[in-house]
Amino acid sequence: MDALARAIPWILLLWTSVLQQAECAYYQSRPQSTAVLQGETIVLSCAFRGLQKDEAVLWEGPPNYRIISNGRSVSRAFNRHRVVGKPSRGEFNLEIQDVQREDTGGYRCSTLSVEAASDAVLTVVVPMEGPPDITGAETSLEAGSELYLRCKSRGGFPAPRLAWYNGTRPLPTSESDEDNVSEQRMIEMFIPRLTKWDNGANLSCVADQGYLKIVKPRTTSRILRVNYPPTISVPSPSIHVKEGQSANLTCYVDSNPRADMTWTKMGGVLPTGSIQRDKTLQIPRVSKLDSGVYRCEAENGMSPTATGAVTLEVFYPPKIDSSMDAKVTVLFNQDDFSLKCQADGNPKPHIRWRRKDTALRWENPLRFHRIRYDVEGIYQCIATNDGVQYVTRDVEIDVVGQPDIRGGQSLVTVNSGGTARLYCDIVADPVPEKAKWVWRNNQEAETILLPTNNGIMITEHTTEEGTTSIVTVQEVREEDGGVYICKATNMFGSDQKEIRLNVKGSRSSLVAIISVSVVVIVLAAAALVGVLFAKRRGWIFRNTPQGNSVRTPSRPMPPLPKHARKPGHGTNDSGVEDLELQEMDGTLKPRPPSRVGKDWAAIGLTYGGLAHTNTLPP
Ligand SMILES: *[C@@H]1O[C@H](CO)[C@@H](O)[C@H](O)[C@H]1NC(C)=O
Ligand SMILES: *[C@@H]1O[C@H](CO)[C@@H](O)[C@H](O)[C@H]1NC(C)=O
Ligand SMILES: *[C@@H]1O[C@H](CO)[C@@H](O)[C@H](O)[C@H]1NC(C)=O
Ligand SMILES: *[C@@H]1O[C@H](CO)[C@@H](O)[C@H](O)[C@H]1NC(C)=O
Repeated sequence: MDALARAIPWILLLWTSVLQQAECAYYQSRPQSTAVLQGETIVLSCAFRGLQKDEAVLWEGPPNYRIISNGRSVSRAFNRHRVVGKPSRGEFNLEIQDVQREDTGGYRCSTLSVEAASDAVLTVVVPMEGPPDITGAETSLEAGSELYLRCKSRGGFPAPRLAWYNGTRPLPTSESDEDNVSEQRMIEMFIPRLTKWDNGANLSCVADQGYLKIVKPRTTSRILRVNYPPTISVPSPSIHVKEGQSANLTCYVDSNPRADMTWTKMGGVLPTGSIQRDKTLQIPRVSKLDSGVYRCEAENGMSPTATGAVTLEVFYPPKIDSSMDAKVTVLFNQDDFSLKCQADGNPKPHIRWRRKDTALRWENPLRFHRIRYDVEGIYQCIATNDGVQYVTRDVEIDVVGQPDIRGGQSLVTVNSGGTARLYCDIVADPVPEKAKWVWRNNQEAETILLPTNNGIMITEHTTEEGTTSIVTVQEVREEDGGVYICKATNMFGSDQKEIRLNVKGSRSSLVAIISVSVVVIVLAAAALVGVLFAKRRGWIFRNTPQGNSVRTPSRPMPPLPKHARKPGHGTNDSGVEDLELQEMDGTLKPRPPSRVGKDWAAIGLTYGGLAHTNTLPP
């Protein structure tokens, strides 16, 4: 129904025009609304068909539909206007030259016999005098402050529409105020708190008059300059390098204006040769002393300043403290002696000890409950830090002290008329004078034995292990029986051992045989245990009175239970020999260095290395 109602006027119009064609005039061409740039020439077209010869065509226009022309004659007030076109074709086009702003308005072309067509609107576009003006934010602003910007258009007709853009992104823009007097438009922008992200933002004010084909929009931009305090980000907060390599410590700074960077080392000074280049501290050759925390501080005059930290860890091979003495002299029989090896390295090295050229190993510190002569030897401190790199340092332990007369027979039985040999094994450092022998006969009378005595021979063998003094009594007689005392003395003291000589075939000795045999039987069991632990050098059983078993030849070590060793540390109750028993394969420890020929003065030189100087001899 609606469509039909709208169609009715058209149907009527068509009908009337058909009628008019028959008897009246009608529009051949109607003026059209248009826009034109100021100063150009425009032609508004208007043409009729079927006009009577004398019928007048009127143009009316601004201001207020004044009559511009009648037929082909133009009012004198409109000197830039002309009516053009072929009269024969009923054309009454209005030409306006050098159009001006006041030409803007509605135009009407009509004749009396034709109902006037709707008005055509001519818009004369006057371009803006220039791009809009932005005021505010002329200088740098600080983060946190507010921003107030104002954009004003300059001239132009029709007055432009203004809009804000951030880069290419339109910003919500309030309707522009119209200044009716100067025809200026103005928009504002207010940001209560600027952030560092606003720095460098390209804020544009676009003025658009709406006739893109005639005048281009004009744009004015302002790049925001926002100053903000520095912030630091550290890409690698911890750096690991091997000693000798180069390292670059980097702190990235974000700030405006540019910040100055300062590097410091916490609790120290910057490595020599380090170069600060911009955001990076370059250390061309890292030393182990360069490990630590480095601080970067950025400052650009705005508070607060920013700091960052980079931890530098330098890996370096182990190194044993070189101040450790290469030779340590300890006193025989000293208790609780320990030797500590100090080594540096990163990662922290594992430190152990071993007896040189053996597989015997101990934890650090090397510890002995009691010093004996067999402790003497070369020990090696081993420091490893990654299982591959290791360093060693040798320390010689030199044991000095009073003589130590070790086991061996304390009862010798010989048939009358035979030869008796009495052995005395002495270890001492320094080497003592010749051993002294004293014979205490069965009547408790003591005689100093001299090689000159009849039938007596005193010989001495010196080996690397010590000295053995032997008394040989040939053609033993009953009265030669008794106790033979071997005594060794050096500057530290003396030790002695008693050996009973029993001569068989004499009544007096019979009593002795019985009594001694009882002792022998009683002690046999204990001696058996000792034998099990004995090594080829049986002298480790010194001071054991029950070690009176016959001189046993060397034999292989019996296997030992595991618990014989105290795990976890190098401490053992009875010195190094117990540890050595761990060697199932019977590996022998190296022989202690020869004590032969060592004189007292030479030893004296090493006394500074004594672990406990208060135990020095007078
Ligand atoms: C400016 O003109 C508009 C209409 O064009 C009118 O509504 C407004 O009140 C005028 N403003 C001033 C300040 O004259
Ligand atoms: C402009 O845009 C940038 C990036 O999109 C944004 O970080 C900034 O805050 C914006 N600034 C303003 C004033 O809108
Ligand atoms: C800012 O933005 C405007 C409009 O997008 C652009 O014409 C102008 O070149 C930009 N200015 C800068 C410095 O990028
Ligand atoms: C550190 O920087 C310097 C210079 O840029 C470069 O030659 C060197 O290879 C860098 N070192 C490391 C470990 O990245």
